[in-house]
Amino acid sequence: MLSFIPLMGMAIFLGRCHGLDNSESIVIPRPYSGAEYVPRDLQSFSIEFAFFPDYAGNKSHPNHFSKNLLENFKDLTGIYPLVRVGGTSQDHSDYFPEQKENIQLIYENPDDDQPIQINYGPTFFESYHTLGPVKFLHGLNQNQNRSIKQLQDAAIEACTAIGPQLHLFELGNEWNFAPGTYRSANYSLLDYVHEWNYKSSVVKSAVQEACPGPFPGFMAPSFVLLDSVVTNGWTVQKLYNLGYDNKNLTKEFSFHNYMGVNLDPTSNGADDLQKTLMNHTSIIENLAPQISRSKDLAYLGHLYTLGEMNSIAGQGRNGETNVFGDALWMVDFSLWAAAHNIKRLHLHQGLNYRYASWQPIFSKGEAIATRPPYYGQIMVAATLGRADNSRVVNISLKEDTEAAYGIYHGEKLSKIVVLNMKAFNETTSSGRPSRQYQFQVPGRYDYVKVKRMIAPGSDSTSNVTFGGISYDYDLKLGKPVTVHSKKEIVEVRGGTVSIDIPDSSAALLTLV
Ligand SMILES: *[C@@H]1O[C@H](CO)[C@@H](O)[C@H](O)[C@H]1NC(C)=O
Ligand SMILES: *[C@@H]1O[C@H](CO)[C@@H](O)[C@H](O)[C@H]1NC(C)=O
Ligand SMILES: *[C@@H]1O[C@H](CO)[C@@H](O)[C@H](O)[C@H]1NC(C)=O
Ligand SMILES: *[C@@H]1O[C@H](CO)[C@@H](O)[C@H](O)[C@H]1NC(C)=O
Ligand SMILES: *[C@@H]1O[C@H](CO)[C@@H](O)[C@H](O)[C@H]1NC(C)=O
Ligand SMILES: *[C@@H]1O[C@H](CO)[C@@H](O)[C@H](O)[C@H]1NC(C)=O
Ligand SMILES: *[C@@H]1O[C@H](CO)[C@@H](O)[C@H](O)[C@H]1NC(C)=O
Ligand SMILES: *[C@@H]1O[C@H](CO)[C@@H](O)[C@H](O)[C@H]1NC(C)=O
Repeated sequence: MLSFIPLMGMAIFLGRCHGLDNSESIVIPRPYSGAEYVPRDLQSFSIEFAFFPDYAGNKSHPNHFSKNLLENFKDLTGIYPLVRVGGTSQDHSDYFPEQKENIQLIYENPDDDQPIQINYGPTFFESYHTLGPVKFLHGLNQNQNRSIKQLQDAAIEACTAIGPQLHLFELGNEWNFAPGTYRSANYSLLDYVHEWNYKSSVVKSAVQEACPGPFPGFMAPSFVLLDSVVTNGWTVQKLYNLGYDNKNLTKEFSFHNYMGVNLDPTSNGADDLQKTLMNHTSIIENLAPQISRSKDLAYLGHLYTLGEMNSIAGQGRNGETNVFGDALWMVDFSLWAAAHNIKRLHLHQGLNYRYASWQPIFSKGEAIATRPPYYGQIMVAATLGRADNSRVVNISLKEDTEAAYGIYHGEKLSKIVVLNMKAFNETTSSGRPSRQYQFQVPGRYDYVKVKRMIAPGSDSTSNVTFGGISYDYDLKLGKPVTVHSKKEIVEVRGGTVSIDIPDSSAALLTLV
């Protein structure tokens, strides 16, 4: 039963509850005693070093689109996301103070996802001043071993050029791969400890001399320790037992995370979408080692972040990570991480990457565009909002293809997120099935405002909206544009709110 009532000049869509027929009403648990507040910049970014100028532009050609997309987070949460500039290309990037060009990218094969050598000069740092008051985590090359002066120069240029917008440094990316790649096959974890401790103290001394004031510190160790990748038996327990970071220069832990690895970039991931990404169980299993590591390392007193992460490693896979299903994964993954005290998620981006949240410039035939994953990030930011005392609780549901969370502000339940991750293809001609959910809500609430994240299907690469808003490039350069103005409000009946969620969609319910 639906009715329209006019309110403040807008059409209001008033959904009535459908009765308590088949599904049980769901009780939202209280935050467990160890649940910590979720930082508003949970949704943050990591941009591949080689492609940072493409994302940010430079002084004469700033990238307004990227700036707008970052500003949208500020509008929702009150603060900007943090941006890490790093990744694999960071350890192939050499700083040359005399170089006039901001960046030179040298490719082994023009079709490769990344260059094998990057040379950058002082004007590279113009890109740190085009995106507004964003703070950065700047990646330094640990691999370069020709001269320690080159590392000192790079660190000094970074602290002087980035200035107060420099949040932290990072030294080396994914050095669990170092034996046999960056170093000889017999390079040991102890060798790594010695090298990092030495080079990090060199960076600190150089920076303290050139940029007086407190040393910013590092995010570290930036390992990717997953079952699906080579770890050379390196673990964080062994790392710290060997005296890693003996001067305590680390401020934030950074571990990298992916749901799987794309070994064949030309393969189509459609078959894997439901199995891997739109799958709550697979998310829980994937995050479990990070959650237990964060507890094991809590005694060191650093914030625990996923300093580089995304859905499928190897820059993603078409049909899986560039479609709307990835946005649903984004919301479920992020809220599960938030519910388990992971403090920041740096979603990794690169030009033409198949999981990128946006394509910042035209390249390799790919138009400038906001991609579906961006909408997942926006929904998470909207869920957290502007409060500094948000906690997320996970709610148990029966199937792999569904998930729900309660959001508390202090002791007060204020929002509910529910996801129906059953695949629905945009070309399917039959009607779109939906599932009904009933949640018990505290007696003081009469209505629930509903904002839906939806697209024509889980395989859609465009036409995504959240709360009726599109952030597409073609509409207003990534600024929000209302494309469906219908407001949806659902009545609370007998302490219960009932909501239908179409397959391959999610809803944010705000209790009012
Ligand atoms: C700034 O960006 C423009 C457009 O990409 C480029 O042509 C120009 O060389 C860049 N400036 C510097 C100093 O690198
Ligand atoms: C490691 O291998 C290099 C050659 O690849 C050799 O020079 C070095 O002595 C070896 N170090 C140890 C500790 O075995
Ligand atoms: C690189 O530098 C580190 C630290 O000075 C040193 O321990 C290591 O042996 C060097 N590696 C190579 C391949 O030169
Ligand atoms: C090391 O730094 C962290 C901040 O990242 C701090 O919480 C911790 O107390 C410090 N540890 C020591 C032994 O000083
Ligand atoms: C979801 O992931 C779990 C754990 O990996 C797996 O057992 C299950 O089969 C997956 N579900 C679907 C629908 O593929
Ligand atoms: C939330 O997740 C934890 C696992 O981290 C689990 O122990 C707990 O039962 C879950 N809570 C609910 C209500 O499902
Ligand atoms: C959607 O389409 C893909 C291939 O394009 C197919 O593998 C998948 O089974 C379809 N899913 C549904 C739910 O129809
Ligand atoms: C996406 O939106 C465009 C513009 O509104 C429309 O022409 C197109 O049919 C839509 N695509 C799908 C699959 O709904």
